[in-house]
Amino acid sequence: MGGQDSRSFEELLAEGVAVPTEGWDFSWFEGRATEARPSWGYAVSLADRLAAATAALDLQTGGGEVLEFALGRATKAPVLTVATEGWPPNVAKATALLAPRGVAVVASPEDAPLPFADGAFDLVTSRHPVQAPWPEIARVLRPGGTYFAQHVGPHSVFELVEYFLGPQPEEVRSGRHPERERADAEAAGLEVVDLRAEELRIEFHDIAAVVHFLRKVIWMVPDFTVEAYRPQLRSLHERIASDGPFVAHSTRHLFEARRPDA
Ligand SMILES: C[S@@+](CC[C@H](N)C(=O)[O-])C[C@H]1O[C@@H](n2cnc3c(N)ncnc32)[C@H](O)[C@@H]1O
Repeated sequence: MGGQDSRSFEELLAEGVAVPTEGWDFSWFEGRATEARPSWGYAVSLADRLAAATAALDLQTGGGEVLEFALGRATKAPVLTVATEGWPPNVAKATALLAPRGVAVVASPEDAPLPFADGAFDLVTSRHPVQAPWPEIARVLRPGGTYFAQHVGPHSVFELVEYFLGPQPEEVRSGRHPERERADAEAAGLEVVDLRAEELRIEFHDIAAVVHFLRKVIWMVPDFTVEAYRPQLRSLHERIASDGPFVAHSTRHLFEARRPDA
């Protein structure tokens, strides 16, 4: 924490509010928050999957950073790579990043039908989709094709969510459960090949990091604003100053599913 201890509450709030939230690059948090990464190394595995694919689709690509990293690392690119993105600021950002790699970014809201023909892809991927559109994934996969993804799991970072919103009902805490997703994938006609879950430590070292995180990950505390939560932010700031970093836990699962051969 070092010098940041002496920064005033108001200065830290102003800093957390000023950081842009587009894209999905978390480098701003360096030195202010830490998050352990899942042991399976999604982006590196994605590179291997892309190298073996002919036609690939990345869903909800965000700013395109993960796909761009994986394509840069892949020994060979698919003949065709397409990404979808629904949030206009990220459509522009992802296009700028991915066009030089020959990837078309298609503007498509995350709850809309995928704008592709049946069986168009042998690989569909996604990291942290807001939700996985299982019937649509199954439809656009060729027989024998694979869905390879990393998902956010249940009660992820709920220490922070519940700090602001109070205890959440079990139905909310268990949303995004990997076993529910297994059932949904199977109901859509997919075979689950691999499903692994991990819980990972997150530390927030100052209140600016909390503010930026809640502005960026808008699903955590819906309608979060500094004005609406100022008293809670002040007491959390004081708690971090006296007790050290606020600790929470994220949950992630690796999901691999296959459309059965025709
Ligand atoms: C959690 S993001 C993950 C993006 C990307 N796959 C990655 O892992 O870097 C999933 C989706 O949420 C969207 N999203 C992120 N912030 C948003 C915001 N403030 N408003 C609306 N959609 C947002 C992204 O644009 C993306 O389509």
